[in-house]
Amino acid sequence: MLISGEGSNLQALIDASRARAIAAEIVVVVSNRGAARGLERARSAGIPAVHLPAQRGAERSVYDETLSIELAKHSPDLVVLAGFMRIFTPQLVAHFAGRMLNIHPSLLPKYPGLDTHQRALDEGERTHGATVHFVTADLDAGPAVIQYRIAVRPEDTPDSLAARVRTGEHIILPRAVDWFATGRLRLERGAVMLDGKPLPKPMILEGEA
Ligand code: GRF
Repeated sequence: MLISGEGSNLQALIDASRARAIAAEIVVVVSNRGAARGLERARSAGIPAVHLPAQRGAERSVYDETLSIELAKHSPDLVVLAGFMRIFTPQLVAHFAGRMLNIHPSLLPKYPGLDTHQRALDEGERTHGATVHFVTADLDAGPAVIQYRIAVRPEDTPDSLAARVRTGEHIILPRAVDWFATGRLRLERGAVMLDGKPLPKPMILEGEA
């Protein structure tokens, strides 16, 4: 699992794995930031936690190669990104094609990139949420698997939205990981397949109104 910060999604996966609510185990956690709280969460759970800083001025491919080597030591079946603040080379994305999931805090294809909660409020959106998607070469644009959707309230702020969306992230990410781990979820020729059938639109989990 790749993180850069708080690691609350990591914690949700650790808890789900421990409770045997998902058929998956986290074999390694890598962060590009040494201060990421997620690294501590991993260590407390007895999971190898690796700080892999980027070297100033180095090519992106150098980082991605080191990352690939680090991951290969643990032979992961799936690589999960949650708040990992780096963009990959197309080579790394191709290497993990169909084996890499990301969680993004918006209802993609709306609001790829940063400041999603503020942007959703600025646009007067009535709904907002989070998306788990397969990673492709386009930033935050790979085929979507599942979305958590909430109604935006008149009194919402970026922080209040972030908190409610985060609660849903902790449900949909473990769910998608479990589907993958149990062989129910696959990416075939660029299309999401769930239980052997194409999923033309992501599954939607409605949050409380
Ligand atoms: C989540 O909102 C995720 O969607 C976004 O970054 C945040 C990571 O949170 N990409 P955490 O580190 O899992 O708490």
